[in-house]
Amino acid sequence: MNGKMLPSELEGYVDTVLDLKREYKDDIEILLGLEVEYLYTLWEPLLRLLEPYPIEYMILGQHYLGNGVNAPFCGEPSNSAERLRQYCRQTREALETGKFLYFAHPDVLWYTGPGEIYEEEMTKLCRFCREIDIPLEINLLGVREDRSYPCEHFWKIAAREGNRVIYGSDAHRADHVYSAEVIAKADRFLEKCGIPRERLIEVMDVGSEKDGIKK
Ligand SMILES: [Fe+2]
Repeated sequence: MNGKMLPSELEGYVDTVLDLKREYKDDIEILLGLEVEYLYTLWEPLLRLLEPYPIEYMILGQHYLGNGVNAPFCGEPSNSAERLRQYCRQTREALETGKFLYFAHPDVLWYTGPGEIYEEEMTKLCRFCREIDIPLEINLLGVREDRSYPCEHFWKIAAREGNRVIYGSDAHRADHVYSAEVIAKADRFLEKCGIPRERLIEVMDVGSEKDGIKK
């Protein structure tokens, strides 16, 4: 399966997770979650599509801007300050909906322009996330594959701004759900960026504090 789900696949996904939840209820707690894109004209239809399902939490993953149709992937390198600003604006609007538990790979936007512009825009974004207490995800798929994210510049800003941090495995394969090696690599990255260990939290922490997770 690639990273995207078709609307027609939603029901099968929900049924699979609910079945696993029942099967393993005495062993582990499984939550039904979704990584969701915030695209302007598709947002309301998306909420209507999800309404019948007992989704327990959603995380924001912004891979495309505007309405996504024909928009370039945020993970492609670009020196456009306008694209960077649009990313910051759109993700901020997404988080203002109050629908998201945390912000997946906030540094997926790959900006190759002047460092000062990145510094200014991402400082505002990190500050906003701290004010509304949305944790930022260090994406372990990015760590595993040495992608452009996690981006050191971004996480040094987050270190300074005091954001809380969460590890997200972003597993596209079952054997990628947990890897001690990848976590150790992420731990070293965290330390290099100056993020204190106590800022690293678990998804259940956020859910219980905010009631973001329906129980
Ligand atoms: Fe993603």
